Amino acid sequence: MATVEAGEGIRLAAKGLDVALPGRGDTYFNYYWLRDNCSTSFDRETRERVFDIFHLSTPPAPRAARIVGDALVIEWAGEDHVSTYPLSWLESCAAGSRFDPADMPRQPWYSDHYATLHRVPFASLRADKAALAGWLKAVLVEGVAFVTDMPDSDEALTELVQHIGLVRPTFFGEYFDVRTHIEPSNLAYTAKALELHTDTPAEELAPGIQFLHCRANSVEGGDNLFLDGVAVAEDLRYEAPEDFRILSETRVPYYCEHDTYDMRSYQRVIELDDNGAVSGVTISQHMADVFDMPQQDLDAFYPAFCRFGQMLQRDKYLMRFNIRAGECIVFDNHRIVHGRDAYSATSGDRYLRGCYADRGELRSAYRILAGEGRFK
Ligand SMILES: [Fe+2]
Repeated sequence: MATVEAGEGIRLAAKGLDVALPGRGDTYFNYYWLRDNCSTSFDRETRERVFDIFHLSTPPAPRAARIVGDALVIEWAGEDHVSTYPLSWLESCAAGSRFDPADMPRQPWYSDHYATLHRVPFASLRADKAALAGWLKAVLVEGVAFVTDMPDSDEALTELVQHIGLVRPTFFGEYFDVRTHIEPSNLAYTAKALELHTDTPAEELAPGIQFLHCRANSVEGGDNLFLDGVAVAEDLRYEAPEDFRILSETRVPYYCEHDTYDMRSYQRVIELDDNGAVSGVTISQHMADVFDMPQQDLDAFYPAFCRFGQMLQRDKYLMRFNIRAGECIVFDNHRIVHGRDAYSATSGDRYLRGCYADRGELRSAYRILAGEGRFK
């Protein structure tokens, strides 16, 4: 085997090396990882990885490795290639996952949130990047925000969504209209009360961010009911840990069926993120299918399910208001549970126009405004 040259501060091993980093001391890096992440692996124009590790004929190993100035320099054996890694960059990688400005702790909120809810005029989002960032941040952190002074037009909602990304269609189409229909296919299209729910859980991936643009509201009744599913589920974790476990692990069947569609999917009532924190909830009595878990499991599931459903209705959580024409409420459909009181259909007009965008696109839009990226 050829002699391998290791400079001061470097200790070579069979599959990787230790390098003395100024802020961390000796830190181990795998040779595959080092070769894969050479700065030349990324094209600056497309910003994509152009190096293909699958094309290496032998496992990567250094012919020489040394610290030169503030960088680790590796000459690779078996190929004519030299890689240079700033020590500061290695240090940031060793610290863990890449910093994500859109990854902010969720702030639970309760019934009194209406007065302090984030509100921004529609025109400000067009003109003011700070206003736009503030609005996106509110949706990320609190899961809900209002846009006010919306023009009374279809185009206004499209423009609003485009601050985040594209309209994300569902099997109902790109946009939906909530008003009384002659032959309703959905409870929302009647004047009846709409129980607390999240939208379209029968889709494999239920839509992320929901927009409800109020174009008219002069009816009697029809109060909007909104609550933070994260606040309720985190409370359940303390009140009834076993029920919390059951609801975060059990797959629940949902369906949505009519003449031309038969959508079915499984969701968990409580959705957890990689850190075990509650990231969302799925609840929909009108789209819950016949539960198909083993009957013995239902002995524990149903009481847990009912406890959670009853918690949702506590005054502590329920934010009650009446949306006004010109307002658009924007909320995380995986987190915010919403419903509506019954209203009198003959007492006036009530028209809400809605659509969805992806949660991922919301985070992307926020990162762009924060000026964060690998190539910044
Ligand atoms: Fe809904």
